[in-house]
Amino acid sequence: MQKVAMLGSGFIGRFYAKAIHNQRSRDRVVAIYARREESAKKFADDYGCPIWSTDMETVIAHPEVTMVCIALPNNLHESAVHLCAKHRKSVICTKPLGRNSEEAYRMLKAVEEAGIFAGYLEDLCYTPKNLKAVEMARNGSLGRILWAKSRETHPGPHSDWFWDKEQAGGGCMLDLGCHCVEIGRNYIGKDIKPIRAFCWAATQVKPIDAEDHGIALIEYENGAIGQFETSWSFRGGMDLRDEVMGTEGTIWLNNFLRTGFEAFTTGKGGDYIAEKSETNSGWLFPVGDEVNELGYNHMFTDMFSAAEEGREPAETFYDGYIVNAILDACYRSAESGKWEPVELKEWRGRTGLSKFSGYQEYDADHYFIKEEVTHDGRHKLILKDKKSGKFVEKDIKG
Ligand SMILES: NC(=O)c1ccc[n+]([C@@H]2O[C@H](COP(=O)([O-])OP(=O)(O)OC[C@H]3O[C@@H](n4cnc5c(N)ncnc54)[C@H](O)[C@@H]3O)[C@@H](O)[C@H]2O)c1
Repeated sequence: MQKVAMLGSGFIGRFYAKAIHNQRSRDRVVAIYARREESAKKFADDYGCPIWSTDMETVIAHPEVTMVCIALPNNLHESAVHLCAKHRKSVICTKPLGRNSEEAYRMLKAVEEAGIFAGYLEDLCYTPKNLKAVEMARNGSLGRILWAKSRETHPGPHSDWFWDKEQAGGGCMLDLGCHCVEIGRNYIGKDIKPIRAFCWAATQVKPIDAEDHGIALIEYENGAIGQFETSWSFRGGMDLRDEVMGTEGTIWLNNFLRTGFEAFTTGKGGDYIAEKSETNSGWLFPVGDEVNELGYNHMFTDMFSAAEEGREPAETFYDGYIVNAILDACYRSAESGKWEPVELKEWRGRTGLSKFSGYQEYDADHYFIKEEVTHDGRHKLILKDKKSGKFVEKDIKG
């Protein structure tokens, strides 16, 4: 059983508390830190927390607390992690881990040097659909992964600090691209080194210093390509979609707007529909169990089980650091207009992989290109002659 201290009583702190207390869970949020007394007391009342404070260290150090959950604005993640290291408390931290890879690396080193359990709360890698899709990819159903695209766009975040580049560390690319990059790594392989990034970013709509729209490509050492599309200016709700292409298959996931649940209402009931939904009338796309569909349940189950079993969770601070390093390269590329290297202080995966992994053999003299049945009833093969380099068609009879 985990006795959790929640740092931050806002949007994600409440989602997390709901997930932790979900169904008949034995884990409890026992303590809350918030900036204002009124918010701390309200959260403590809502979730039955006996301990509340407006002093972060008091909550972290409290002897009842077994795990600290960081649900604070991005600029406060690092100082909270250092306090957890000081008090030797297990810590789980929301995304993005840092505002940049320098911060993330210091956080990684702090938990490793303190020898404490640490987990990266990347919920979108734990959605039920994503867990199944990644399992299929890892079992080989898609063959060699060639391309993994992830999109997160919505009409913009719900609190003031996100819009301030200093506090947030960036715009939509850091806020949403961190999910997309890690989803891509899950398919391509977390042990495959990200090499370089090419990115376009712009501030098209909002009066902010950071970007409100950004698109990037990330090239991996084995030749696979990751891609993300992010925006805070998208209209129509929260669009979460992933597409993965491999030599043996394809996966398309629509995680939010088209989940098979469509409803029409004149708006009479005034219901809450789903995160970032822009309307509650007309044709709507509600999400059954939002806390579950967004991956929070599976995420906390993995985090708490990992801490109790003495293993690493599926998403670690090291993963958070790699994500930050990739995003740093994207920001540099958006500035330079060129491919920029992903600079890693430490790489723990495989190295020296070649991009080319071999053509498919047909027989001793030919490579296989494709097989097709055409509308005129031909069943044919297209092959490449290894010696002459010529492309040849061969009919299959019967
Ligand atoms: N899907 C996800 O994983 C997801 C979704 C939303 C937010 N987040 C992350 O969670 C973190 C918090 O975001 P949020 O949406 O809950 O924000 P929020 O503004 O709703 O809540 C932040 C909370 O932090 C506390 N706080 C303490 N000091 C503060 C300060 N100086 N300024 C503002 N708040 C202060 C307050 O209790 C406040 O309620 C961010 O890192 C964000 O990226 C993750």
